Amino acid sequence: MRHLMSPLDFSVEELDQLLDLASDIEKHPEKYAHACDGKKLATLFYEPSTRTRLSFEAAMMNLGGNIFGFSSAESSSAAKGESVSDTIRMISCYADICAMRHPKEGAPMVASAVSSIPVINAGDGGHQHPTQTLTDLLTIRSLKGRLDNLTIGLCGDLKFGRTVHSLVRALARYKNITFIFISPEELKIPSYIKEDVLEAQGIPYQESERIEDVMPDLDILYMTRVQQERFFNEADYIRLKDFYILNNKKMKLAKEDMIVMHPLPRVNEISVEVDKDPRAAYFRQVQYGVYVRMALILTLLEVNLC
Ligand code: CP
Repeated sequence: MRHLMSPLDFSVEELDQLLDLASDIEKHPEKYAHACDGKKLATLFYEPSTRTRLSFEAAMMNLGGNIFGFSSAESSSAAKGESVSDTIRMISCYADICAMRHPKEGAPMVASAVSSIPVINAGDGGHQHPTQTLTDLLTIRSLKGRLDNLTIGLCGDLKFGRTVHSLVRALARYKNITFIFISPEELKIPSYIKEDVLEAQGIPYQESERIEDVMPDLDILYMTRVQQERFFNEADYIRLKDFYILNNKKMKLAKEDMIVMHPLPRVNEISVEVDKDPRAAYFRQVQYGVYVRMALILTLLEVNLC
């Protein structure tokens, strides 16, 4: 039995197979409509979510399976003090697979240690968000045609943004990737990612505070929101929340085939006028999230269609 805690839990070859399966699901959804008949997915969300929870639920329904779960800690017995370990022991009696989001880093890992069903990390604090990374990899591969030879700019809250932390680790395994980190001083990418992931492997990166300076170099611009829920100080959040606003004027500086991605939800960091630009890929990214979660459920449940 396998769990998914980090995108690195899959080798590059396994990831390629997973993305191939997701692309086949996109092309031939009818082939998979009953692949999980009789199976149950539990969504255990201790923190708010729209996309991740609902795309997991849509994915399982598209596979013919059933879903149940909770969408906040307050609506579960966590509110009465039940531990994550005890909760997952219960859920293992009810479901075949589960997706867990938790505000504490490592909570899904704790669950996986005592679980008798596959546990998927659906986001743990400021740590990792591996299924967003799978979504991002499928989006990049589908829209750019490759996962190597790319310059990617990651912009916004790089300190607390778990989607960025997971994506950098995952893309660092492909050839000739250049990272450009665009952030204010207070929200810089953590030094452990620069030192342990990039410098340790000789992977090039630059840091910039101005989006305009680096825009012409980018194949992908990955925007992120400033994570209000991770700030200890409201005044700092208010000062930093509108530091970057991508608009049509800034888009004029970009390559014609650059794509703009965003894990969403968006707050102010991408002006709605950019939505009409054909390079805006963030809503297509959401659709890829359903295909890749379908592929992940099939892989972890070891469902093989003949
Ligand atoms: N991208 C993402 O994780 O969105 P949600 O918080 O809505 O699940």
